[in-house]
Amino acid sequence: MMHQTIKRDGVETIGDPYLCLEGMNKKYGLVEVISNLNLAVRKGELIALLGPSGCGKTTTLRMIAGLIAPTAGRITVGGRDVTQIAPHGRDMGLVFQSYALFPHMTVAKNVAFGLEMRGLSRADIANKVAKALGMVQLEHLAERKPRELSGGQQQRVALARALVIEPSILLLDEPLSNLDAKLRDEMRTQIRDIQQQLGITTVFVTHDQVEALSMCDRIVVMKGGLIEQVGTPHEIYERPATPFVASFVGRTNRVKGKRTADGCIRIGSSMIRSARPAVQDDVMVMVRPHRIHIDWNAASTEQQGETANRMAAVLSRITFVGDVIQYHFDVGGSEFIVEESTKKSQVSRDQGDKAVLSWSVEDTLVFGADQ
Ligand SMILES: Nc1ncnc2c1ncn2[C@@H]1O[C@H](COP(=O)(O)OP(=O)(O)O)[C@@H](O)[C@H]1O
Ligand SMILES: [Mg+2]
Repeated sequence: MMHQTIKRDGVETIGDPYLCLEGMNKKYGLVEVISNLNLAVRKGELIALLGPSGCGKTTTLRMIAGLIAPTAGRITVGGRDVTQIAPHGRDMGLVFQSYALFPHMTVAKNVAFGLEMRGLSRADIANKVAKALGMVQLEHLAERKPRELSGGQQQRVALARALVIEPSILLLDEPLSNLDAKLRDEMRTQIRDIQQQLGITTVFVTHDQVEALSMCDRIVVMKGGLIEQVGTPHEIYERPATPFVASFVGRTNRVKGKRTADGCIRIGSSMIRSARPAVQDDVMVMVRPHRIHIDWNAASTEQQGETANRMAAVLSRITFVGDVIQYHFDVGGSEFIVEESTKKSQVSRDQGDKAVLSWSVEDTLVFGADQ
């Protein structure tokens, strides 16, 4: 499902918006932790709020849920203004990092809780609980207590409990952060599958770029209570709007450069080109480590092409990271890291080895030095 995304006055406008945040603001005393946040989420979309600790992800999610009152702004769901509606009236399911299960209740009772609160019949409740537990593949553990389950199983109970009320929006706050790496991978897939099966509009808070890139339709990158960029994982990774986004999502080399009269960029004694023109005289050039090719046998940096940048480099260090090998180069006083997949037939290299690094103009990101 592709929609047109148009930027107008810095506000994202999309086709078919479902959950809309307009002019959201949150102050604690004099401290503004969310500043004029505007966001539109489509029906059925899985959107990530991604950013470092303290950037305002949880605050935003809790304002959507109605657990925190905004200082200013408006929240609508399907055109209905819910800003003043209490949490239980908003029809949203919530999952927290800490599973927040009732320890004395069985799995089935935990999942049934929200339905009992809503006064459904026993038969209806049994039916819906079985369906929700089936969705997270926990039918066989319905009579266990939370302490008799692993962390991953407990988190799946929390997910079933959020889904059983058939909410129109699912809100997840770092649901995988307490799980070990392997389980996190499995849960990512499971959450994405369930989300797509149900077609449920979902906001997923995470500080983990891999989680955001691998699971979500779009990513909202936040920093200091502001949105830095909204885009698909591909857009965020390939066309980061700011140096912060480029560094936070994926690894990148950074090196200072100067714009020249003919629109090139000078780094040390080398001249390179970028896809977009430099907007300032002092620039920061960024290149992804795995987008750089190493030519160990090049005699010179001649044959500067229209599409490739080339720079002479000296190897300063090698780091072996299992499936990847990182070569650290000195490039006119700056460090450049190049990553290659390891091969059995790897030729060993030594500190001081000379090489020519090349990468496409397309892969050369350029920002103002003070951005
Ligand atoms: N109740 C509160 N009182 C004062 N400051 C708060 C309160 N809750 C959160 N903050 C501050 O708001 C900012 C955003 O917090 P939060 O939304 O929890 O960030 P994140 O979830 O991205 O880590 C932080 O600087 C945090 O210290
Ligand atoms: Mg948080």
